[in-house]
Amino acid sequence: MRVIITDDAKQAALEAAEIIISLIKRKPDCVLGLATGSTPIGLYEVLVEAFKSGEVSFSSVSTFNLDEYYDMSPEHHQSYRYFMDQHLFSKVDIKPENTFLPECSGKQSAEEVAKQYEMEIKRRGGIDLQLLGIGENGHIGFNEPGSSLASRTRLKTLTPNTLEANSRLFEDGEFQPTLAMTMGVGTIMDAKQVLILATGTNKSEAIGNMLLGSITSACPASILQMHPHVTAVIDRDASIDIENSDYFELSESNRRKL
Ligand code: GLP
Repeated sequence: MRVIITDDAKQAALEAAEIIISLIKRKPDCVLGLATGSTPIGLYEVLVEAFKSGEVSFSSVSTFNLDEYYDMSPEHHQSYRYFMDQHLFSKVDIKPENTFLPECSGKQSAEEVAKQYEMEIKRRGGIDLQLLGIGENGHIGFNEPGSSLASRTRLKTLTPNTLEANSRLFEDGEFQPTLAMTMGVGTIMDAKQVLILATGTNKSEAIGNMLLGSITSACPASILQMHPHVTAVIDRDASIDIENSDYFELSESNRRKL
């Protein structure tokens, strides 16, 4: 796994954005897997700036988000569709019909929605680059600890730990969903390239386990050790639990020299 350790979250956003920008330049009709959460907001800001300056266009790009709350209307301010519109889609030239989230209302069959989502990904040639954040418990998407490492898109129940971590984003007394539709771990592993972004000391334990822990569903992100093309961009705070972080820094500096 390529590991890039940056001084701070801003630098991490720049490094990660650079990887996405160079992919779009190389392949203007690429398929991006996208993530929500606080972590990628800075990265989306860099992408928007790159679009505004004319460096990059999203006009032929397709996107698939990792997850969406179950039975939440796309207009709801807590929906991930709303988040994506606010932070990226409405600010660049992406075609709305090329943006996908696993949206599932209570009236639909979750199994059917999940199947269609997987089929649409395939129909567009698969995901070229999947952007990921990481949960404090090592989840990716909403694949909580205990998720099958071969799982596909489906409905998941969120753990108390995740609900607690995300409660900061909800007002007091506001309804917080406990179910979400998420790409499976297997779906994520099918992406040609994975870019995982993590910042802050609250992510350091999960990052340590992801990189050098055993491969286990107790830390779903650890399966990324089996993926041939992963880049982890993390700030120094998120790197403190990596046993040999010096080695990763040396390795990256050699890579840049070669
Ligand atoms: C959420 C999302 C994940 C995200 C993670 C971390 O629950 N489902 O895709 O990576 O939690 O979020 P944050 O970046 O806000 O810490």
